[in-house]
Amino acid sequence: MLTQQENDELTQVGPGTPMGDVLRHYWYPVAFVRELEVFPVKEVRLLGENWAVFRTPSGEYGIVDERCPHRGASLTYGIVEDAGLRCGYHGWLFNTSGECVEILAEPDSSPKFRAGCGVRAGSAQALGGMVWVYVGEGPAPELPRYEAYVMNGYRDIGHSMLPCNWLQIMENAVDPYHVESLHGNYFEFIARRQGTPMPESFVANKHEKVAFDPFDHGIIKRRLLEGQSEDSDDWKIGHPLVFPYKMWVGGNGVYQMQIRVPVDDTHTWALFYTVHAPDGLEFGDDLPVVDYEYQWIDDHGRHIVDYIEGQDVMAWVTQGPVADRVNERITKSDVGILACRRMFKEAMQAVRRGEDPVAVVREPHDVIKLPLERSKFGRGAGFAIDWINDGSMRYSPIAEEMKQLHIDAAAARADLGGS
Ligand code: FES
Ligand SMILES: [Fe+2]
Repeated sequence: MLTQQENDELTQVGPGTPMGDVLRHYWYPVAFVRELEVFPVKEVRLLGENWAVFRTPSGEYGIVDERCPHRGASLTYGIVEDAGLRCGYHGWLFNTSGECVEILAEPDSSPKFRAGCGVRAGSAQALGGMVWVYVGEGPAPELPRYEAYVMNGYRDIGHSMLPCNWLQIMENAVDPYHVESLHGNYFEFIARRQGTPMPESFVANKHEKVAFDPFDHGIIKRRLLEGQSEDSDDWKIGHPLVFPYKMWVGGNGVYQMQIRVPVDDTHTWALFYTVHAPDGLEFGDDLPVVDYEYQWIDDHGRHIVDYIEGQDVMAWVTQGPVADRVNERITKSDVGILACRRMFKEAMQAVRRGEDPVAVVREPHDVIKLPLERSKFGRGAGFAIDWINDGSMRYSPIAEEMKQLHIDAAAARADLGGS
């Protein structure tokens, strides 16, 4: 239970707020590379502010404040040129650093005059099929090349805009007991009512114990299920909440970064960034990236709860636009949530001291590998099939192909003498 002020501090993302200052130390995905190939400017809302993100014909990416400094027209209606983005209204031209390099109606304007005419700019670059931006102060840190974004395999990205604060989604990432209830008992209840089967991988996942270990990139979550030994991947390896807005999850040839982009205080762009790369098959590094919207609400405005992530979305969104942490009842089994809030508080303190918060990466690198169970819930390829059938990937245009991929890989492994 928090005070209203503590809840505000933890959840508000706008400029000048303590958490907003923390969040402005990280890179965020805001578009698909494919989108800017189709049309090179996109309106983006991030951390409570509006931006124009663009790709020049020569392939350079940029992000600038949406509002043109001349008379305030939206730069999302600008013209993209090799030199940058030109406002559609009177033709002021801004480069990717935000400098005004030309005023159409005043060809003789001096650089000294134009120096006062720039627009606020961040940094932007492409990685793993997405366009990433940094809109914080000072030199941008490295864009972390987490394994999901650089590994070879089929990329399948489901996404939707959700009407709730990002933090309640992150708290769900350190809440293992919900798997037993929401994806177990509740799923079974709904499946029975619908007369549909319940995914095997989620039947009776009784938790015996859980643990949370802070590390360089967030918090590692471990669970020991009834019948498992402490040598099981779920306990020995676990998987992480990746600070401050992601979770890395998967196993059995499916790897997923769950990405929760804080759009503003009451909206989150929630992506399931999945790479299918089962052992037993080889993958090139040039496979297409597929993106699509997953559905989470039906025609009557009720949540769609007959698949795993739909159940999560129900739990996140029905807590309200910003979860009420003043009237909640946190108990012993919520220990992961307390660990998460502690890490966010420490991050706010670090930023106040002028230091980088956790998981800001300054060292250039090729790849960052995070801990992840390779055998999830002790199950084999069936876990991947269950996840595609009964997860947000059921909305994917390549769902059937991906199921076949996991079946083919299991057959190839069997040929090689594996499981
Ligand atoms: S409002 Fe953008 S150039 Fe005038
Ligand atoms: Fe869940």
